[in-house]
Amino acid sequence: MKVNGEKFAVITAYDFTFSTLIENAAIEVVLVGDSLGNVIQGRDSTLPVTVDEMAYHTAAVKRGNNRALLISDMPFMSYATDVQAFENAAILMQAGAQMVKLEGGEWLADTVHLLTERGIPVCGHIGLTPQSVHKLGGYKVQGKDEQAAEQLITDAKALESAGAELIVVECVPSSLGRELSETLDIPVIGIGAGPDTDAQVLVLHDMLGISQRLPSFSKNFIEDNSSIEEAITAYGNEVRTGTFPAPQHCFK
Ligand code: KIV
Repeated sequence: MKVNGEKFAVITAYDFTFSTLIENAAIEVVLVGDSLGNVIQGRDSTLPVTVDEMAYHTAAVKRGNNRALLISDMPFMSYATDVQAFENAAILMQAGAQMVKLEGGEWLADTVHLLTERGIPVCGHIGLTPQSVHKLGGYKVQGKDEQAAEQLITDAKALESAGAELIVVECVPSSLGRELSETLDIPVIGIGAGPDTDAQVLVLHDMLGISQRLPSFSKNFIEDNSSIEEAITAYGNEVRTGTFPAPQHCFK
């Protein structure tokens, strides 16, 4: 789709029923995000989420999904060593994931290489990486100055060279989202990264307006639609036509 200049939509899911609705809405990629720590478990961060919990939710989503690419998040500390990364990625793949997502930049390239070399497809995640929230000092926009933006471009290139096949970039200025998409051959999936990334991802509970708080980069799609399936379909269409994200969902 990137080669053809077509945008695609990604959404999070955590259970069978929503997975079937997402399937009916023809969303291209489903992410079992460790955001389940926040929206399912009511935690104040993703840090307490375990591999077993990710595997449980991945298996449930898998049962409702036949068409979309299914990505599962590797939770905090599950890829601290190469052995942990390989063993834990295998658990998620056996639960039904077709790709795993890891948070981190250049420093993670060897781990990404190890996984991809052994047949496990990898999605990178840079920018605002919620597993590092305490190091980042909160949920803040990343890559705002020139040096930080350059580092994110270096990180993205290192992940791509190591074998990553997709990359999520979270909460960066729109200009950087565009530059990353233009620089990389692999598709860049943005969340709060402007309108010019190759794809968009949203947390399901945010876009259905049932989260505790709607992040400024998200949009409540249920407001203008009469069912959950219609709202998810509208999200997919707005991403593909470039209507979402609008300027109010973007950072400068
Ligand atoms: O855990 C998650 O839902 C994510 C998305 C916000 C990209 O990583």
